[in-house]
Formats: sequence, structure tokens, C-alpha cells
Amino acid sequence: MRVGFVGVGRIGAAHAQVVRDHPAVTAVKLADADPARAGKVADELGVEAVAAPGDAFRDVDAVVIAAATSAHAELMIAAAEAGLPVFCEKPVAADVAGTRAVLAAVEAAGVPTQIGFQRRFDAGYAAARDAVRAGALGEVRRLHLITADAEPPHPSYVPTSGGIFRDCHIHDFDILRWVTGREVATVYATGANRGAEVFAASGDVDESAAVLTLDDGTLATLQGSRYNGAGYDVRMEVAGTAGTHVVGLDDQAALTSAEPGVAFPEGTPFREFWSRFLPAYQAEIAAFVDVARGERESPCTVADALESFYVAEAATLSRREGRVVTVSEVREA
Ligand SMILES: NC(=O)c1ccc[n+]([C@@H]2O[C@H](COP(=O)([O-])OP(=O)(O)OC[C@H]3O[C@@H](n4cnc5c(N)ncnc54)[C@H](O)[C@@H]3O)[C@@H](O)[C@H]2O)c1
Repeated sequence: MRVGFVGVGRIGAAHAQVVRDHPAVTAVKLADADPARAGKVADELGVEAVAAPGDAFRDVDAVVIAAATSAHAELMIAAAEAGLPVFCEKPVAADVAGTRAVLAAVEAAGVPTQIGFQRRFDAGYAAARDAVRAGALGEVRRLHLITADAEPPHPSYVPTSGGIFRDCHIHDFDILRWVTGREVATVYATGANRGAEVFAASGDVDESAAVLTLDDGTLATLQGSRYNGAGYDVRMEVAGTAGTHVVGLDDQAALTSAEPGVAFPEGTPFREFWSRFLPAYQAEIAAFVDVARGERESPCTVADALESFYVAEAATLSRREGRVVTVSEVREA
């Protein structure tokens, strides 16, 4: 399989190595809005760099998009119009209209798609989902989700990121739906500006919290940060009438017990997403190769990602307006 690859920044360069190393991949063509960056990463990986993003869509069998969020919709539509299977990092677009435009384009073209919600490939989240589905927790009543970065992204990332709910917490909204099999009904979200000026200047926050209700009455709470000094902290607690499971509570959890004599967890916490989720990133690219070859159904379609985006949009609106927002208000707008 020959793969065209667009966007080799923080995550793109790492994804490109995983793509190159997949046994079915015979060639990779890298492009970036910054051609010097594409050239540098291509040299490091021993693959071809092309001058413009459009060149990465020629003479290839599939496309991977890991460019900035603001570029996703246009690139995905171009890939669809070229008839190419496409993997794209989350979120699908910067807004609802863009996400719907992508959905229309990929459906019209009939191309396979996969969106980068790698938590669906993480062993802990998958085990929690299995436990919920098997009834091992009894009736699920409450969930708590955390996505906290150890350090903020570079300042130029923030203005086009879509804000913390669309950029970061979309992972929580996706996994909440995937683990429980329920849809989010309402959201109340809040946030604070305690960090760099770029967050406030972009209409964004760097500390976040939300309360969500699911369509069966299950309650969920959410916390996030761009400044979690203890480390990259991604966890989910699922509590039911018969038991509670925690994802991300292992020896490397970015936590210190306040209980005297309790040493756990004793490992070194992760500092960023790539090392925390490496096996999941590898598994999602392996899945995409199978999706592109028509050997499996997409594990995360654009339609699926649109549902999670509605929740992110509702949370963003809730924080701005200081009120509870029903997801149907956003879905039907
Ligand atoms: N799934 C995850 O865990 C995860 C983690 C980090 C980032 N992401 C997503 O990946 C995407 C990239 O994030 P990042 O942290 O690597 O950002 P980044 O700013 O480090 O890199 C973005 C790259 O895209 C390039 N680019 C921008 N517009 C382009 C265009 N029109 N055509 C081609 N290239 C273009 C930039 O030059 C840059 O090299 C974002 O959508 C982000 O939401 C996902």
C-alpha cells in the first residue's frame, strides 16, 4: 500500500513513522504546509517528501491526515474527491458545518474513513467497555473522566485548535459514548484561564470541568487541564451498582496517594500523549490499513465523530453562555 501523508507536526511525524513501519506499506509520500518540515521528517524516516499537500494524493492507495485541525475538512474532502480511503486525526473539522460537509463528501464518494480516536484501541478502555457490556459492573450509574496535559501545546497551536472541549475533551466524549453505548443528553461546562495569555486571547480556557447526563440518566463528570504538573493524566472511572473500574490507574498514573504508607503508584508518569498511547496509535493505523483494503469496517466513522463533536460543541456553548445545553439543541441547529 502506498500512503500519502499530510501534516508532520507534533503527532504527524510520530504517526508517519508508524505508517512507514507497517508491513503492508510499501511507500510513503509526506507533505506539510511547511515544505522544509516535510523534507526534514522525510529524510529522518527515509521516505519521499512532496512539495504540496495535493501531491500527496497522487499515485497513492490511501491518505493519512495529521495536519492542523483547521486544515482537516478541506484535505478530507480533497481525499474523498480523489476516491481515496482516508484516516484523519480528530476532530474532523473545526466546526459543525465543516464536519457535516466532510460527511456529505465521504458519503457521496463512498470512500472508507477512520477518525483518530485512539482510546478505542487502548487496552484499558476496551476492557472497561467489555465489563460494562458484560454487566460486570451492574447498572452503570456514574463516570468520571480526566484529560490533563502536563504542558500546554505550543502557542501557535491554540488559536486554531477549536478550544479545549473540541480539541482535548472530544476524546472523552467519544470514549464515554463508546464505553457506555449511550448518547450524551445535556452538558454544563465551565473553565478558567490560569495559564498563558494565548488561551484567553483565543476565547479558550486552560482548566476545564463539566457535568454531563446521558440519555439513560447516567451521570458523568469531566476535568481537564493544560497545566497538570504531575504528568499526562488520562483516566476514566466507571461506577455501577455492582462494581467500579478505573482506566489509567496503573503504576505510571500521575498521582500521589495522600495515605500514609501507601507507595502506589511508584512508576514514572507519562509526560505526553504519544508514549501513553503508543500501542493504541499503532493499532489504529493497523486497523486503518485493513479498512483501506476493504478488510474490515471502520472502527470510527465520520458520522460517529460528528456525534462526539456535537457534545464538544454543546460544552463550548455551555461554557460561553454559562448554562446547561442539550446536545439536541446543537444537533438540530
Ligand atoms: N489523537 C491524539 O491523541 C492527538 C494528539 C495531538 C494532536 N492531535 C491532532 O492532530 C492534529 C495535529 O496536531 P499537532 O499537535 O501535530 O499540531 P502541530 O501544530 O504540531 O502540527 C500541525 C502540522 O500541520 C501542518 N499544517 C497546517 N496546515 C496545513 C495544511 N493546510 N496542509 C498541510 N499541512 C498543514 C503544520 O505546518 C504543522 O506541521 C490536530 O488536529 C490535533 O487535534 C491528535
